[in-house]
Amino acid sequence: MGPPGAGKGTQAKKLVEKFGMTHLSSGDIFRAEKSSGSDLGKQLAQYMLAGKLVPDEIVVEMMAKAIADGDAEAGLMLDGFPRTVAQAKALDEQLAAAGSEMDAVVSIVVPDSEIVGRITGRRSCSCGQAYHVMFIPPKVEDVCDVCGAKLTQRADDTEEVVKERLEAYHAQTKPVIDYYSSCGEVRVLEVDGSKTPDEVSEDLAAALNALQQ
Ligand code: AP5
Repeated sequence: MGPPGAGKGTQAKKLVEKFGMTHLSSGDIFRAEKSSGSDLGKQLAQYMLAGKLVPDEIVVEMMAKAIADGDAEAGLMLDGFPRTVAQAKALDEQLAAAGSEMDAVVSIVVPDSEIVGRITGRRSCSCGQAYHVMFIPPKVEDVCDVCGAKLTQRADDTEEVVKERLEAYHAQTKPVIDYYSSCGEVRVLEVDGSKTPDEVSEDLAAALNALQQ
C-alpha cells in the first residue's frame, strides 16, 4: 500500500524477483480491461482519468476473480487492492472462505511533496519496464533499454489528476492501514519510500524475511 507514486509497482517487481510471488496490480488489471475496449473498460477509464476510485462493487468482483485465478501456491502480492475499508472486508471474507490468510501489509511511506514529481516523470514500456525521466532514466531518451520500444506516459499521470488521486488516497485508502493495524491479526510493515529504489527494496526484503523467522 502507499500513495500514488510511492513505488508500489517498482518494489513489487523487485520482490517478485526475490521471493517468486505472483504480482496482482489492480491498476494494471483495470488498464488491461480498458485497452480491450469493452464497456466495462470504458466505465473504468472514466474513474481512472478523473483520479477517482472505481466503485467498490466493480473492484471487488474483478479482484476476487483475479485472486481466485492466481497462483496461491507461489503466494500473491496485491498491489493497489484493497483501497477502501469495504474492499478490505470483502478480501477478508474471500480469504477466510478459501482457508487462507494475509501474511502482512506493507505500507510504503512517501511525503506528498515528492509525489507529483515522481508521477509526472514516470515513463513506461509495453514490455513492463518502468522508468523515471530523472531518477531511473533510459539510456536513450524515450526509448526502452530492454526492448527498444518507444516509452509512453500514463493518461492519468498529470499534475491535475495526481492531486485527485492523492486526495482519494488520504480520504479512502489511509483508513485501510488503520483498519489492519487495529485488527491485530495482520502485521503492518512500514518502510521509508523516499530512499532510493534499491534501498527501499533492501529494507522491504529485510522486513519480510524477519516475518518468516
Ligand atoms: P494504480 O495503477 O494502482 O495507481 P496508483 O496507486 O496511483 O499508483 P501508481 O501506479 O501511480 O504508483 P506506484 O506506487 O506503483 O509507483 P511506481 O512504482 O510506478 O491505480 C490507478 C487508478 O486505478 C486509480 O487512480 C483508481 O482510479 C483505479 N484503481 C486501482 N485500484 C483500485 C482500487 N482497489 N479501488 C478503486 N480504484 C482503483 O513509481 C512511480 C514513479 O516513481 C516511477 O517513475 C518510478 O520509476 C519512480 N520511483 C519509484 N520508486 C522510486 C524511488 N524510491 N525514488 C525515486 N523514484 C522512484
